[in-house]
Amino acid sequence: MILAIDTSCDETAAAIVQGRRVLSSVVFSQIHEHQQWGGVVPSVAKRAHTQRIEPVIEQALRKAHVSYRDLKAVAVTIGPGLAIALEVGIKTAQRICMEQRLPLIAVNHMEGHLFSPFVQNSRGNPVREFPFPMIAVLVSGGHSEFVLWTDTMKYEVIGRTVDDAAGEALDKAAKILGFGYPGGPIIERLAAEVGNRDLYQFPRPMLRSPSFDMSFSGLKTSLLYQVRSMTEDQKNTKLHDLASSFQEAVFDTILRKLTRAIRKTKVQTLTLGGGVGVNARLRALLRRYARANDINLYTPPFKYLNFDNAAMIGIVGSYKLDAHQYVADIASLDRIPRLSLPAFQTIAEQSRFMKKRVLMKS
Ligand code: KG4
Ligand code: ZN
Repeated sequence: MILAIDTSCDETAAAIVQGRRVLSSVVFSQIHEHQQWGGVVPSVAKRAHTQRIEPVIEQALRKAHVSYRDLKAVAVTIGPGLAIALEVGIKTAQRICMEQRLPLIAVNHMEGHLFSPFVQNSRGNPVREFPFPMIAVLVSGGHSEFVLWTDTMKYEVIGRTVDDAAGEALDKAAKILGFGYPGGPIIERLAAEVGNRDLYQFPRPMLRSPSFDMSFSGLKTSLLYQVRSMTEDQKNTKLHDLASSFQEAVFDTILRKLTRAIRKTKVQTLTLGGGVGVNARLRALLRRYARANDINLYTPPFKYLNFDNAAMIGIVGSYKLDAHQYVADIASLDRIPRLSLPAFQTIAEQSRFMKKRVLMKS
């Protein structure tokens, strides 16, 4: 059994896992503490993590009926995330490993989101094989990327946002429209109320570039200009359409770039992970695309797995434990706030990899 810890952003999370099974998962959200500031404040996050990390771990152990003696290792998120928030989890993990003489496993938070569709409950459900090769669509508040996943521990980012993440764009759009944080669920609700119609047709950036990269910051500027050109009354009567058109532009961009990546790689399985992945409109668009193109779509089997949690970190930890990927010097493990998944430096490098890994028909 593994104890997993994640304090990368604004949730204090611990879990006990065994292989791919989650025996317990505890998440303490700080969202109410950050809401009054309109976003996540690092110093507030640090204080809240420090206060809650011990009780959250105790609760995870208790819920799983497990004691420290039953553990085989501790897995902890080392990045990406807020430096002073990550530090709280890492220091706690280091202390436990030294006290209990346990190996420590360092996990990339995005690896957690990547594995989230394959996490099981305590009974081992759902049973899902890994149907490699796959493309994972990871969309959260800090990241938006397409990952070509060819074997359990082999994955490469093949496309990513060059500026704002999809969730960040939705959060900023909500702010421009006068709403609070987080903006994603608010935009989703407003858009649904007008049937997700696309009245304003904001530009879809970077569609002409052959890469699978995306950009969302110009879109935010388009929304800002549109809102500035309206009176307060006009804006208020068009809030739903502004939100809906913005959301359509974000999701349409993702879908078009994804379509290109799938055509190029010929993969037949698509996965979805990250906070934006709970969005019903995004799911509907992906489902429709998958059905029309004979592609399997895997989403996280339980809702909590879309958001930040330690269970997904523990599952990655299990695979790293099997591969003997421990931290060599526990005391010197440090956070890496800008850690990213492996990625190619050039398009040529990327297409060589894809030709080798995935059967590409030119
Ligand atoms: O994965 P996550 O919980 O944390 C990060 O690692 O970033 O993602 C948080 C992001 C926020 O930007 C939030 O606005 C977005 O997920 N989000 C949504 C929805 N619920 C949360 N975006 C669109 N629709 C939603 N229903
Ligand atoms: Zn996350």
